[in-house]
Amino acid sequence: MKLTKNSRVYIAGCGGMLGEAVYQHFSPRTTVLATDIDVNADWLEFADVRDYTAMQRSIGEFKPDIVINLAALTDLEFCEKNAENAWLTNALGAENLALIAGKLEIPLVYISTAGIFDGAQDVYNDFDAPNPLSIYAKSKYHGEQFVQSHLREHFIFRAGWMMGGGESKDKKFVNKIFQQIKRGSRELFVVDDKAGTPTFTRSFAAGMFRVIESGLFGLYNQVCGGDCNRYDVAVEFVRLLGLGDQVQVTRVSSDHFKREYFAPRPASEKLVNLKLDARKLNCMPHWKDALAEYAKQYRIDVSGPPATSRHSGRSKISVGEDRH
Ligand SMILES: NC(=O)c1ccc[n+]([C@@H]2O[C@H](COP(=O)([O-])OP(=O)(O)OC[C@H]3O[C@@H](n4cnc5c(N)ncnc54)[C@H](OP(=O)(O)O)[C@@H]3O)[C@@H](O)[C@H]2O)c1
Repeated sequence: MKLTKNSRVYIAGCGGMLGEAVYQHFSPRTTVLATDIDVNADWLEFADVRDYTAMQRSIGEFKPDIVINLAALTDLEFCEKNAENAWLTNALGAENLALIAGKLEIPLVYISTAGIFDGAQDVYNDFDAPNPLSIYAKSKYHGEQFVQSHLREHFIFRAGWMMGGGESKDKKFVNKIFQQIKRGSRELFVVDDKAGTPTFTRSFAAGMFRVIESGLFGLYNQVCGGDCNRYDVAVEFVRLLGLGDQVQVTRVSSDHFKREYFAPRPASEKLVNLKLDARKLNCMPHWKDALAEYAKQYRIDVSGPPATSRHSGRSKISVGEDRH
Protein backbone atom coordinates (compact mmCIF):
# COMPACT_ATOMS: atom_id res chain seq x y z
CA MET A 1 0.00 0.00 0.00
CA LYS A 2 1.37 3.38 -0.99
CA LEU A 3 1.54 5.69 2.03
CA THR A 4 0.86 9.37 1.26
CA LYS A 5 -0.37 12.43 3.14
CA ASN A 6 -3.87 11.14 2.42
CA SER A 7 -3.14 7.86 4.22
CA ARG A 8 -4.63 7.86 7.71
CA VAL A 9 -2.46 6.05 10.26
CA TYR A 10 -3.70 5.35 13.80
CA ILE A 11 -0.84 4.66 16.23
CA ALA A 12 -1.67 3.27 19.70
CA GLY A 13 0.94 3.31 22.48
CA CYS A 14 2.82 6.05 20.65
CA GLY A 15 4.09 7.86 23.76
CA GLY A 16 7.07 5.56 24.33
CA MET A 17 10.60 5.20 22.97
CA LEU A 18 9.60 3.54 19.72
CA GLY A 19 6.50 5.72 19.41
CA GLU A 20 8.59 8.86 19.22
CA ALA A 21 10.56 7.55 16.24
CA VAL A 22 7.46 6.15 14.55
CA TYR A 23 5.65 9.45 15.00
CA GLN A 24 8.65 11.39 13.64
CA HIS A 25 8.88 9.16 10.58
CA PHE A 26 5.18 8.76 9.80
CA SER A 27 3.70 12.18 10.67
CA PRO A 28 5.45 14.19 7.90
CA ARG A 29 4.50 11.57 5.32
CA THR A 30 0.99 10.50 6.36
CA THR A 31 -1.93 11.77 8.47
CA VAL A 32 -1.39 10.40 11.96
CA LEU A 33 -3.49 10.11 15.09
CA ALA A 34 -1.16 9.10 17.94
CA THR A 35 -2.57 7.86 21.26
CA ASP A 36 -1.26 6.45 24.54
CA ILE A 37 -2.26 6.20 28.20
CA ASP A 38 0.79 8.37 28.93
CA VAL A 39 -0.07 11.66 27.22
CA ASN A 40 3.43 13.15 27.42
CA ALA A 41 3.38 15.30 24.24
CA ASP A 42 0.91 17.70 22.69
CA TRP A 43 0.59 15.43 19.63
CA LEU A 44 -0.78 12.57 21.76
CA GLU A 45 -4.37 11.80 22.75
CA PHE A 46 -5.45 9.44 25.51
CA ALA A 47 -6.55 5.92 24.56
CA ASP A 48 -6.20 2.69 26.55
CA VAL A 49 -5.77 -0.50 24.50
CA ARG A 50 -7.25 -2.56 27.35
CA ASP A 51 -10.63 -0.88 26.78
CA TYR A 52 -12.20 -2.38 23.66
CA THR A 53 -15.16 0.00 23.52
CA ALA A 54 -13.07 3.15 23.93
CA MET A 55 -10.54 1.94 21.35
CA GLN A 56 -13.31 1.11 18.92
CA ARG A 57 -14.64 4.65 19.30
CA SER A 58 -11.21 6.31 19.06
CA ILE A 59 -10.13 4.31 16.01
CA GLY A 60 -13.57 4.33 14.39
CA GLU A 61 -13.87 8.13 14.58
CA PHE A 62 -10.45 8.62 12.97
CA LYS A 63 -11.27 6.25 10.07
CA PRO A 64 -7.70 5.04 9.54
CA ASP A 65 -6.33 3.11 6.59
CA ILE A 66 -4.00 1.19 8.92
CA VAL A 67 -3.57 0.69 12.68
CA ILE A 68 -0.16 0.42 14.35
CA ASN A 69 -0.12 -1.08 17.85
CA LEU A 70 2.95 -0.06 19.87
CA ALA A 71 1.24 -0.21 23.27
CA ALA A 72 2.84 -2.51 25.81
CA LEU A 73 4.13 -2.87 29.32
CA THR A 74 7.80 -3.41 28.56
CA ASP A 75 9.39 -3.65 32.02
CA LEU A 76 9.94 -7.38 32.55
CA GLU A 77 10.04 -7.19 36.34
CA PHE A 78 6.89 -5.03 36.43
CA CYS A 79 5.17 -7.64 34.25
CA GLU A 80 6.18 -10.47 36.60
CA LYS A 81 4.79 -8.53 39.56
CA ASN A 82 1.69 -7.28 37.72
CA ALA A 83 0.88 -10.27 35.58
CA GLU A 84 -2.81 -9.47 35.18
CA ASN A 85 -2.08 -6.00 33.84
CA ALA A 86 0.64 -7.41 31.56
CA TRP A 87 -1.84 -9.87 30.05
CA LEU A 88 -4.52 -7.18 29.72
CA THR A 89 -2.16 -4.71 28.03
CA ASN A 90 0.12 -6.90 25.95
CA ALA A 91 -2.23 -9.76 25.05
CA LEU A 92 -5.81 -8.50 25.39
CA GLY A 93 -4.78 -5.09 24.03
CA ALA A 94 -3.30 -6.81 20.99
CA GLU A 95 -6.53 -8.81 20.58
CA ASN A 96 -8.66 -5.67 20.89
CA LEU A 97 -6.79 -3.81 18.16
CA ALA A 98 -6.72 -6.84 15.88
CA LEU A 99 -10.48 -7.31 16.30
CA ILE A 100 -11.11 -3.64 15.53
CA ALA A 101 -8.83 -3.69 12.47
CA GLY A 102 -10.62 -6.86 11.32
CA LYS A 103 -14.04 -5.23 11.61
CA LEU A 104 -12.81 -2.18 9.72
CA GLU A 105 -11.09 -4.44 7.15
CA ILE A 106 -7.81 -2.57 7.44
CA PRO A 107 -4.27 -3.89 8.05
CA LEU A 108 -2.70 -3.93 11.49
CA VAL A 109 0.94 -3.60 12.55
CA TYR A 110 2.04 -5.33 15.77
CA ILE A 111 5.46 -5.10 17.39
CA SER A 112 6.85 -8.25 18.98
CA THR A 113 10.10 -9.03 20.65
CA ALA A 114 13.20 -11.19 20.36
CA GLY A 115 12.50 -12.03 24.01
CA ILE A 116 9.92 -14.67 22.97
CA PHE A 117 12.74 -17.18 22.41
CA ASP A 118 14.19 -19.35 25.17
CA GLY A 119 17.86 -18.86 24.27
CA ALA A 120 18.51 -22.57 23.72
CA GLN A 121 19.96 -21.77 20.32
CA ASP A 122 22.39 -19.02 19.44
CA VAL A 123 20.60 -17.09 16.69
CA TYR A 124 16.95 -17.01 15.64
CA ASN A 125 15.53 -16.34 12.20
CA ASP A 126 11.95 -15.42 11.35
CA PHE A 127 10.88 -19.07 11.16
CA ASP A 128 12.32 -20.43 14.41
CA ALA A 129 9.83 -21.58 17.03
CA PRO A 130 9.36 -19.31 20.06
CA ASN A 131 9.30 -20.59 23.62
CA PRO A 132 8.71 -17.57 25.85
CA LEU A 133 10.01 -17.66 29.43
CA SER A 134 8.72 -14.51 31.16
CA ILE A 135 5.23 -13.07 31.59
CA TYR A 136 6.23 -10.23 29.27
CA ALA A 137 7.41 -12.62 26.58
CA LYS A 138 4.39 -14.93 26.98
CA SER A 139 1.93 -12.04 26.73
CA LYS A 140 3.72 -10.59 23.67
CA TYR A 141 3.78 -13.99 21.99
CA HIS A 142 0.06 -14.36 22.58
CA GLY A 143 -0.40 -11.03 20.78
CA GLU A 144 1.63 -12.31 17.83
CA GLN A 145 -0.38 -15.50 17.59
CA PHE A 146 -3.74 -13.74 17.79
CA VAL A 147 -2.81 -11.20 15.13
CA GLN A 148 -1.54 -13.96 12.83
CA SER A 149 -4.60 -16.14 13.22
CA HIS A 150 -7.17 -13.36 13.11
CA LEU A 151 -5.95 -11.05 10.35
CA ARG A 152 -4.70 -11.91 6.91
CA GLU A 153 -3.47 -8.35 6.37
CA HIS A 154 -0.97 -7.95 9.19
CA PHE A 155 2.63 -6.96 9.70
CA ILE A 156 4.47 -8.24 12.77
CA PHE A 157 7.92 -6.83 13.43
CA ARG A 158 10.12 -8.48 16.03
CA ALA A 159 12.55 -6.04 17.64
CA GLY A 160 15.62 -6.73 19.75
CA TRP A 161 17.20 -4.48 22.40
CA MET A 162 15.58 -1.16 21.61
CA MET A 163 17.74 1.98 21.54
CA GLY A 164 16.08 5.36 21.06
CA GLY A 165 14.15 8.21 22.59
CA GLY A 166 17.04 9.79 24.49
CA GLU A 167 16.97 10.72 28.16
CA SER A 168 13.28 11.53 28.29
CA LYS A 169 11.89 8.34 26.72
CA ASP A 170 14.51 5.59 26.63
CA LYS A 171 13.57 3.18 29.45
CA LYS A 172 16.14 0.61 28.45
CA PHE A 173 19.80 -0.30 28.67
CA VAL A 174 21.58 2.62 26.97
CA ASN A 175 19.79 5.25 29.01
CA LYS A 176 20.22 3.22 32.20
CA ILE A 177 23.97 3.22 31.57
CA PHE A 178 23.87 6.93 30.82
CA GLN A 179 21.97 7.72 34.01
CA GLN A 180 24.55 5.82 36.07
CA ILE A 181 27.33 7.88 34.52
CA LYS A 182 25.33 11.04 35.07
CA ARG A 183 25.00 10.18 38.75
CA GLY A 184 28.80 10.01 38.93
CA SER A 185 29.53 6.28 38.59
CA ARG A 186 33.04 5.64 37.28
CA GLU A 187 32.71 1.87 37.32
CA LEU A 188 29.80 0.16 35.61
CA PHE A 189 28.99 -3.49 36.26
CA VAL A 190 27.53 -5.04 33.13
CA VAL A 191 26.56 -8.61 32.31
CA ASP A 192 28.42 -10.42 29.58
CA ASP A 193 26.29 -13.58 29.53
CA LYS A 194 23.23 -12.16 27.75
CA ALA A 195 23.48 -11.86 23.98
CA GLY A 196 21.18 -9.99 21.64
CA THR A 197 20.81 -7.58 18.76
CA PRO A 198 20.32 -3.87 19.43
CA THR A 199 17.53 -2.21 17.47
CA PHE A 200 17.64 1.49 16.66
CA THR A 201 14.16 2.98 16.86
CA ARG A 202 14.69 5.46 13.99
CA SER A 203 15.84 2.77 11.55
CA PHE A 204 13.10 0.46 12.84
CA ALA A 205 10.43 3.09 12.11
CA ALA A 206 11.85 3.69 8.62
CA GLY A 207 11.90 -0.07 8.05
CA MET A 208 8.28 -0.43 9.14
CA PHE A 209 7.29 2.26 6.64
CA ARG A 210 9.16 0.54 3.85
CA VAL A 211 7.72 -2.91 4.54
CA ILE A 212 4.17 -1.55 4.88
CA GLU A 213 4.55 0.13 1.49
CA SER A 214 5.76 -3.16 -0.02
CA GLY A 215 2.40 -4.73 0.84
CA LEU A 216 4.18 -7.98 1.69
CA PHE A 217 2.20 -8.94 4.77
CA GLY A 218 3.60 -11.24 7.41
CA LEU A 219 6.11 -11.52 10.24
CA TYR A 220 9.58 -10.00 10.08
CA ASN A 221 12.58 -9.98 12.37
CA GLN A 222 13.85 -6.42 12.23
CA VAL A 223 17.03 -5.76 14.21
CA CYS A 224 20.37 -4.06 13.64
CA GLY A 225 23.22 -5.94 12.01
CA GLY A 226 25.88 -7.69 14.05
CA ASP A 227 25.45 -9.15 17.48
CA CYS A 228 26.83 -8.49 20.93
CA ASN A 229 26.27 -8.87 24.61
CA ARG A 230 25.32 -6.17 27.10
CA TYR A 231 28.97 -5.63 28.06
CA ASP A 232 29.92 -4.91 24.41
CA VAL A 233 27.18 -2.28 24.16
CA ALA A 234 28.25 -0.58 27.38
CA VAL A 235 31.91 -0.47 26.35
CA GLU A 236 31.04 0.99 22.96
CA PHE A 237 28.65 3.55 24.42
CA VAL A 238 31.20 4.74 26.99
CA ARG A 239 33.77 5.01 24.20
CA LEU A 240 31.37 7.03 22.03
CA LEU A 241 30.75 9.38 24.95
CA GLY A 242 34.51 10.01 25.05
CA LEU A 243 34.78 8.55 28.54
CA GLY A 244 36.74 5.40 27.75
CA ASP A 245 39.59 6.40 30.03
CA GLN A 246 37.38 7.64 32.86
CA VAL A 247 34.63 5.08 33.18
CA GLN A 248 35.51 1.42 33.60
CA VAL A 249 33.10 -1.23 32.44
CA THR A 250 33.44 -4.39 34.50
CA ARG A 251 32.10 -7.74 33.33
CA VAL A 252 29.76 -9.60 35.66
CA SER A 253 27.41 -12.54 35.23
CA SER A 254 23.63 -12.28 35.48
CA ASP A 255 23.89 -13.61 39.05
CA HIS A 256 25.20 -10.18 40.03
CA PHE A 257 21.76 -8.67 39.32
CA LYS A 258 19.55 -11.64 40.13
CA ARG A 259 17.57 -9.76 42.79
CA GLU A 260 17.02 -6.63 40.72
CA TYR A 261 16.42 -8.37 37.39
CA PHE A 262 14.57 -11.47 38.55
CA ALA A 263 12.42 -12.05 35.44
CA PRO A 264 13.65 -14.99 33.35
CA ARG A 265 15.66 -13.85 30.34
CA PRO A 266 17.07 -16.00 27.52
CA ALA A 267 20.85 -16.31 27.34
CA SER A 268 20.58 -15.42 23.67
CA GLU A 269 17.90 -13.42 21.91
CA LYS A 270 19.97 -12.74 18.82
CA LEU A 271 17.89 -12.34 15.67
CA VAL A 272 18.76 -12.24 11.98
CA ASN A 273 16.61 -10.47 9.39
CA LEU A 274 16.35 -13.45 7.05
CA LYS A 275 13.11 -12.38 5.36
CA LEU A 276 13.97 -8.69 5.09
CA ASP A 277 17.28 -9.62 3.48
CA ALA A 278 15.69 -12.06 1.07
CA ARG A 279 13.10 -9.47 0.00
CA LYS A 280 15.71 -6.67 -0.17
CA LEU A 281 13.77 -4.71 2.43
CA ASN A 282 16.40 -4.62 5.17
CA CYS A 283 17.35 -1.05 6.00
CA MET A 284 18.73 -1.71 9.49
CA PRO A 285 22.31 -0.47 10.09
CA HIS A 286 25.01 -2.33 12.03
CA TRP A 287 24.41 -1.85 15.74
CA LYS A 288 27.71 0.04 16.20
CA ASP A 289 26.74 2.57 13.51
CA ALA A 290 23.29 2.90 15.05
CA LEU A 291 24.73 3.40 18.52
CA ALA A 292 27.14 6.03 17.16
CA GLU A 293 24.16 7.88 15.71
CA TYR A 294 22.10 7.45 18.86
CA ALA A 295 24.93 8.53 21.17
CA LYS A 296 24.84 11.97 19.50
CA GLN A 297 21.63 12.59 21.45
CA TYR A 298 23.63 12.44 24.67
CA ARG A 299 26.03 15.25 25.41
CA ILE A 300 28.72 15.09 28.04
CA ASP A 301 31.02 17.97 28.94
CA VAL A 302 34.09 16.97 30.85
CA SER A 303 35.58 19.87 32.74
CA GLY A 304 38.23 20.31 35.38
CA PRO A 305 41.21 18.06 36.10
CA PRO A 306 40.78 14.33 35.58
CA ALA A 307 39.35 12.40 38.50
CA THR A 308 41.94 10.80 40.77
CA SER A 309 40.03 7.58 41.09
CA ARG A 310 37.22 5.97 39.17
CA HIS A 311 34.91 6.43 42.13
CA SER A 312 35.59 10.11 42.67
CA GLY A 313 35.11 13.23 40.65
CA ARG A 314 31.32 13.33 40.53
CA SER A 315 31.47 17.06 39.81
CA LYS A 316 33.82 16.68 36.87
CA ILE A 317 31.25 15.42 34.43
CA SER A 318 28.18 17.36 33.42
CA VAL A 319 25.75 15.65 31.17
CA GLY A 320 23.09 16.93 28.85
CA GLU A 321 20.94 15.73 26.02
CA ASP A 322 20.56 17.10 22.54
CA ARG A 323 16.99 16.58 21.50
CA HIS A 324 16.48 15.61 17.86
N1 LIG B 1 11.88 -1.64 24.50
C1 LIG B 1 12.36 -2.75 23.94
O1 LIG B 1 13.53 -3.12 24.14
C2 LIG B 1 11.47 -3.58 23.04
C3 LIG B 1 12.03 -4.71 22.42
C4 LIG B 1 11.23 -5.47 21.58
C5 LIG B 1 9.92 -5.12 21.34
N2 LIG B 1 9.40 -4.03 21.95
C6 LIG B 1 8.01 -3.69 21.66
O2 LIG B 1 7.98 -2.43 20.99
C7 LIG B 1 6.73 -1.79 21.26
C8 LIG B 1 7.01 -0.36 21.70
O3 LIG B 1 7.66 -0.42 22.97
P1 LIG B 1 8.67 0.70 23.47
O4 LIG B 1 10.01 0.13 23.43
O5 LIG B 1 8.39 1.98 22.76
O6 LIG B 1 8.21 0.77 24.99
P2 LIG B 1 7.69 2.00 25.82
O7 LIG B 1 8.63 3.12 25.70
O8 LIG B 1 7.35 1.46 27.16
O9 LIG B 1 6.34 2.41 25.03
C9 LIG B 1 5.14 1.71 25.17
C10 LIG B 1 4.04 2.73 25.40
O10 LIG B 1 2.80 2.02 25.57
C11 LIG B 1 2.13 2.66 26.63
N3 LIG B 1 1.08 1.85 27.21
C12 LIG B 1 1.16 1.00 28.26
N4 LIG B 1 -0.04 0.48 28.53
C13 LIG B 1 -0.90 1.02 27.61
C14 LIG B 1 -2.29 0.89 27.40
N5 LIG B 1 -3.03 0.11 28.19
N6 LIG B 1 -2.86 1.58 26.38
C15 LIG B 1 -2.12 2.40 25.61
N7 LIG B 1 -0.79 2.57 25.78
C16 LIG B 1 -0.20 1.89 26.78
C17 LIG B 1 3.23 2.96 27.59
O11 LIG B 1 2.80 3.86 28.60
P3 LIG B 1 3.49 3.77 30.07
O12 LIG B 1 4.86 4.33 29.90
O13 LIG B 1 2.59 4.60 30.92
O14 LIG B 1 3.49 2.31 30.44
C18 LIG B 1 4.28 3.53 26.67
O15 LIG B 1 4.08 4.91 26.44
C19 LIG B 1 6.02 -2.65 22.30
O16 LIG B 1 5.08 -3.48 21.65
C20 LIG B 1 7.13 -3.50 22.88
O17 LIG B 1 6.64 -4.73 23.40
C21 LIG B 1 10.14 -3.24 22.78
